[in-house]
Amino acid sequence: MRPSKKTLKVDVLDSRLRGNDNQKHSLLAFYLRLHKNLGINLALMATHFTFPSHLLSTDGLSRGDTLELLALASDYYTRNQATDKKHSILKGRTLINLFFENSTRTRTSFELAGKRLGMDVINIAAANSSAKKGESLIDTAKTLSAMQLDALVIRHASSGAARLIAGYVACPVINAGDGSHQHPTQALLDAFTILHHKGNIEGLTVAICGDIAHSRVARSNLYLLQTLGAKVRLIAPPQLLPNTPEQFGAEIHYSMKTGLKDADVVMMLRVQTERVQGPIMASVREYFHLYGLDKTKLAFARPDALVLHPGPMNRGVEIASDVADDVERSGVLDQVEAGVAVRQAILESIVRS
Ligand code: MLT
Repeated sequence: MRPSKKTLKVDVLDSRLRGNDNQKHSLLAFYLRLHKNLGINLALMATHFTFPSHLLSTDGLSRGDTLELLALASDYYTRNQATDKKHSILKGRTLINLFFENSTRTRTSFELAGKRLGMDVINIAAANSSAKKGESLIDTAKTLSAMQLDALVIRHASSGAARLIAGYVACPVINAGDGSHQHPTQALLDAFTILHHKGNIEGLTVAICGDIAHSRVARSNLYLLQTLGAKVRLIAPPQLLPNTPEQFGAEIHYSMKTGLKDADVVMMLRVQTERVQGPIMASVREYFHLYGLDKTKLAFARPDALVLHPGPMNRGVEIASDVADDVERSGVLDQVEAGVAVRQAILESIVRS
């Protein structure tokens, strides 16, 4: 049974928020499930929690730190239900969102997260930056850093861009997606959404389906989900798998029928046409027929399987509308909601440490 949103609208650990006993119990149950299944010591939360100085990848994030971060995000998730969502915990600090690729969800979510924590937030889109006049990425980053930033969020089409500039700036760098390499905040919000719906991650079977080869979301999730104890399956046609998929320690499937069998979570991916060279299938119709998630294919998974998609969704390509919009099965908008809270937790942890 999925917990309803209403039952999570309170904060039992923080006397600043109110809730009736039933609500408190539900949220406490959520925290306790985190505690029981994932080994968080609530008493130590926020005192012993350390976070890396940059967030560039999910590879290397420890289970303990991830879970404590998600517990902090759970606190923000609750607070975001209130009318007044604003806090002053990072008042006076400056966040720059530097986006060299288009984005709706990630950029808006970082902006809201920063503002809700009291930060001054500046958004820079590549189209309006000096990069257009030939300035190098390193020079842009050093220029911004000289303005005494407290955090720099970067999205770039080149894999490795976030790590590169982390070596040149004086503030924490958060990778908001670099080429087909990593998108760590997406994987963290996906983990939050799974925990929210399922209560635990350990032992769950998560099927990641679609364009694995070009997907930073797949790569980030592969590391994080396995760190958190999930069994991961990759489902894709051979041309959309990386060269040596077995290196990731996941089961590989070429058919949705075997790959989705009894899965607890089905994570669909967009075909990253901006990174694919040449046609990958004879037609969109054929792709949808073989790999698009519709009700018939979803029936291979467990009856309560949760459907996720990082967005933007291409309806009728990788997912059918009746699955994407099915409120009983689809967690797509929950992912968006979780994204703000998770990014608040990340900003708080990284800026304050
Ligand atoms: C991304 O930026 O990687 C998105 O969240 C997923 C996509 O673009 O398909």
